[in-house]
Amino acid sequence: MRSARPLVRPTGFDRMLAPLHRWIWRDAERRVHKLIRFGETETDGGRDILRAAEVTSDPLLRRLYLVHAIDELRHGVLFRQRAASLLPALPSSSKPKFRHDWLAPAGHGLDDLDVDGESDNSMLAFLHLSEKAADSRFTVYRDVLKHYPTKCAVFDEILHDETFHMNYTLVQLARVSPQHHNRYLWRARLSRLWKTYLRIATALAGVIGGLLLTIQYFVLLPPFAWLAKRAAHREPHGWTAIPREPGESLTRQY
Ligand SMILES: [Fe+2]
Ligand SMILES: [Fe+2]
Repeated sequence: MRSARPLVRPTGFDRMLAPLHRWIWRDAERRVHKLIRFGETETDGGRDILRAAEVTSDPLLRRLYLVHAIDELRHGVLFRQRAASLLPALPSSSKPKFRHDWLAPAGHGLDDLDVDGESDNSMLAFLHLSEKAADSRFTVYRDVLKHYPTKCAVFDEILHDETFHMNYTLVQLARVSPQHHNRYLWRARLSRLWKTYLRIATALAGVIGGLLLTIQYFVLLPPFAWLAKRAAHREPHGWTAIPREPGESLTRQY
């Protein structure tokens, strides 16, 4: 049942980002943090697909979803094991320096999928596109790491499964919706496009917000600081004697 075809051709966008991926994977710290994030994404995706197996009424889909979920959970373990094997070489204060998930989300992009609200058709269309995207991206990762056989081995292993996931979801979509499977694929494409737009817009809003606050800090605050300093210079130093009011008593409050 597993696909004999190990790889798909990466999309033009993923190929365009290859230099960025090469830069990310070159650094040991970034590599470890990225592997850990991949592990989380694969495990989360596995849980979602496990839920899809629970809610579908189609026995064949249930079996395939279970196989799929087991694969994704295993991928999560593989990524975490790979990250754990690299961790001892890192300094203990290591923290993620740069995240570019808004540009290329980790793994499948199964984030914010509401499994209970999806039909078999829309779920299969969504899974097919997600697996296709993962296949394309993992192929680029594998290619940028090809000079480090031990490092790209994990992608080599996982790519076989991802190709199977991509193929079976398309075959099953054509089976459960022979007339309208293209419509479901287009709907899923538009949904992914919208989510990509939201992800980029949110990241841009963060950058623009940070820029505006920095400008405010350096442009608006200095005049106020200068005025406050000038006012402080005018104030007399130390204790100041207050002249007593006529008729004021020292023994009563009022
Ligand atoms: Fe996977
Ligand atoms: Fe997959």
